[in-house]
Amino acid sequence: MKTQVAIIGGGPSGLLLSQLLHTRGIDSVVLERKTKDYVLGRIRAGVLEQGFVELMEEAGCAERMHSEGFTHDGTLISYGDEIFRIDFTQHTGKPVMVYGQTEVTRDLYAARETAGGKIEFNVEDVVILGADSDTPRVSCSVGGDARTLECDFVAGCDGFHGVSRQTIPLDVRKEYEKVYPFGWLGILSETPPVNHELIYANSERGFALCSMRNDKLSRYYIQCSLSDSPEDWTDEAFWEELKRRIPKEHADALIAGPSIEKSIAPLRSFVTEPMRWGRLFLCGDAAHIVPPTGAKGLNTAASDIHYLYNGLKDFYENGDTQGIDGYSEKALKRIWKAERFSWWFSSLMHRYPDQSEFDLKMQIAEIEFLRSNDAAQRAMAENYVGLPY
Ligand code: APR
Ligand code: PHB
Repeated sequence: MKTQVAIIGGGPSGLLLSQLLHTRGIDSVVLERKTKDYVLGRIRAGVLEQGFVELMEEAGCAERMHSEGFTHDGTLISYGDEIFRIDFTQHTGKPVMVYGQTEVTRDLYAARETAGGKIEFNVEDVVILGADSDTPRVSCSVGGDARTLECDFVAGCDGFHGVSRQTIPLDVRKEYEKVYPFGWLGILSETPPVNHELIYANSERGFALCSMRNDKLSRYYIQCSLSDSPEDWTDEAFWEELKRRIPKEHADALIAGPSIEKSIAPLRSFVTEPMRWGRLFLCGDAAHIVPPTGAKGLNTAASDIHYLYNGLKDFYENGDTQGIDGYSEKALKRIWKAERFSWWFSSLMHRYPDQSEFDLKMQIAEIEFLRSNDAAQRAMAENYVGLPY
């Protein structure tokens, strides 16, 4: 088999890149380890920056997002029973779009299928060969049949546990990591959201987040111990704990219901540098991870795809290599700012096991400063809606 761009990974990064390349007549093949249903079964975050929305529009995949998604002009932040609002639109002129990543992925699959895009599922034993040569290729097996995909470029969109990052030699790549001493226990429930905007809550019992997918489907999280497992938490225990962590007015209004999904996610900050090696380019979770506090996971994948797509477009259309040569440096500049914001917001809103009483005073003082200072709120809003590409 031969293609122009071999894309490893059929998650949102790989699918969005494939669809954008298609709009310019650039051929790609997506190699996905799992089945489509498995990929669509993943429950992920649901806050999209304007930049992501515009990329989906450019890819011709934004119709359902605009009809079924919700724009949010702000968010609530609570600490104890105190609560205040950050107005994104007032500070930045931009809202965010609330639309589940599962739906984004579903829309991208639909677009690829409509366009006759080549996606291979159940792909095993992927090995990237010759990434540092002019003739890269990807070997793999599908249903036990060995395959080799010859290509011009490889896009590693295979997530944190993929093979792409591992292909870059250890003496070339440098990794940066921070593991947080807690996780997020999340549930999905077919109940109306407690509030029409998100509530990020810092309480003496730990962090909580009230989010949603639509007006009948709510998504809630509470900070939990890394030693917890979902089975340790009955629905009733979850709802009672959540109510203890949000302001009373919202706890009293909260409508509980059976969880239709319950899982625990660890929190990590991670970046690998560089994001390019020869003709291999890393995108999204393959190159970087953020704690979900700032909802930056998909939104940092989006700017990677924006830079790589435009670099490949310039290469194929004009023979210009400036975009692909500058990809890693440009992507990392924006990624590190998103890492900083996600780390800052996580530090602001969670209770840490080793937090001293002084640390706690500093944390509350920082929240009070955010509450009272216009410049601080603008900085928060600019980061949350998304810094420029
Ligand atoms: N071969 C082929 N496919 C692979 C391999 C492999 N060796 N390893 C992983 N994959 C596939 C996974 O099955 C998954 O479908 O690559 C895809 C990677 O998708 P994601 O992990 O969703 O990463 P990405 O597309 O970059 O999207 C980032 O996902 O994890 C969230 O918070 C993150 O919202 C962000 C988004
Ligand atoms: C979600 O809706 O799943 C969500 C929203 C905002 C976050 C994290 C997760 O910061």
